[in-house]
Amino acid sequence: MSETGLSAHAFGEDFLWGVATAAFQIEGAVGEDGRGRSIWDTFAHTPGRIAGGDTADVACDHYHRYAEDVRLMARLGVGAYRFSVSWPRIQADGRGAPDQRGLDFYRRLVDELLTYEITPCLTLYHWDLPQALEDAGGWLSRDTAERFADYAALVAGALGDRVPLWITLNEPFVVAAFGYALGFHAPGQALLGGSFPATHHQLLGHGLAVPALRAALPAGAQVGITHNLLPSWPATDSPDDVAAAKRLEDLQIHTYVGSVLRGRYPDRLADIFPGSDLSVIRDGDLDTIAAPLDFLGVNYYSPMVVKAAAPDNPIGFDFAALPGVPVTSFGWPVVPEAFTELLTSLQSWYGDVLPPIYITENGACYDDVPGPDGFVQDDDRIAYVSDHLDALARAIEAGVDVRGYFLWSLLDNFEWAEGYSKRFGLVRVDYETQARTPKASFEWYRARVSRR
Ligand code: FCB
Repeated sequence: MSETGLSAHAFGEDFLWGVATAAFQIEGAVGEDGRGRSIWDTFAHTPGRIAGGDTADVACDHYHRYAEDVRLMARLGVGAYRFSVSWPRIQADGRGAPDQRGLDFYRRLVDELLTYEITPCLTLYHWDLPQALEDAGGWLSRDTAERFADYAALVAGALGDRVPLWITLNEPFVVAAFGYALGFHAPGQALLGGSFPATHHQLLGHGLAVPALRAALPAGAQVGITHNLLPSWPATDSPDDVAAAKRLEDLQIHTYVGSVLRGRYPDRLADIFPGSDLSVIRDGDLDTIAAPLDFLGVNYYSPMVVKAAAPDNPIGFDFAALPGVPVTSFGWPVVPEAFTELLTSLQSWYGDVLPPIYITENGACYDDVPGPDGFVQDDDRIAYVSDHLDALARAIEAGVDVRGYFLWSLLDNFEWAEGYSKRFGLVRVDYETQARTPKASFEWYRARVSRR
């Protein structure tokens, strides 16, 4: 771990320090107040999909305990909180009039945040698509993009007076790749390259939502999108490995960032989505997708190391290990310098069109071992965050305009296909009792944040 003090100078007075969560991972209360079913409810209740057979029916029971959780944030001293709205709480079937009970929950949450002067940062879509929309084609259907823009306008109309930061989608690459190409996330489809419509329609939904949000929000509200960006490193210098790494970079960085910032997909789109139906891209779509943004949200966890694909591998690259590098309990390599590299690369690829950046997620899961009182001395998580803040400081000093950092996550929570087996929180959650116990990393982050 390094506490060099380097980062203390890089982050300005106005830098936003926060924590992040997502609705499905913490709220529970899946059947309350008119909430409809989401694709993740269906997926989690499908045997064999989630580690340990876990479901998110209760999760962290945040729906009922939000006030306690906001008090934890106040104690932590953060200036901002990134959360997501559960679409099926607002529109049970993904269309039609909003359910006031759903909107009221988020009003209560936001008001509680504002009481403690914590800036709300709202994500509209963090993966919990209403099941009824999936039944009508989900993100493979163009109509879902239109429905998303309608939903965005409803939420903005209800909460726009008190939420200044708006994120349309969280990680559309992961939704398309894990949910529609490979099938280990909801809705569990394994279409490989045929998943391209899910990519395009999410991005179109984003592009349609931006003007819908701007029409409903007061002047000064900021609108952006969050992409997860993985620096893509070749396992060796061999031309085949280098080509494989470039392929992954095109697939998960330039497809998503280039479309949103430049209105352009990579030239080799048909090659990186083999078997895809590119006719879903209609005239004018890319202009819609490139609606001007106030910020780009970046989620960073680790680099990906890839090598040339075995001949029977349809995705065109294989993953490789990074020898000699520590990993988190997810097996993700811990490489802070890749974070600096990612941000400076973004600047060099997109500098002419790049809006200010918020780091909307960064953090680590480790096999926390609680003491008898539930306290976790998570030095490994502290080291991860500290080293990544130093890496972020280096990018800022190199000229990248980063305005804030949201640590993932406030609470241990339902980690998608991994269920409750993976813990990312600054606060330990005992899922039997719902007791919340701040870890050592909570105290460390509190001290770090209070230097602002
Ligand atoms: C990101 C997701 C977030 C969480 C972290 C660990 O990909 O956006 O919900 O699961 O990974």
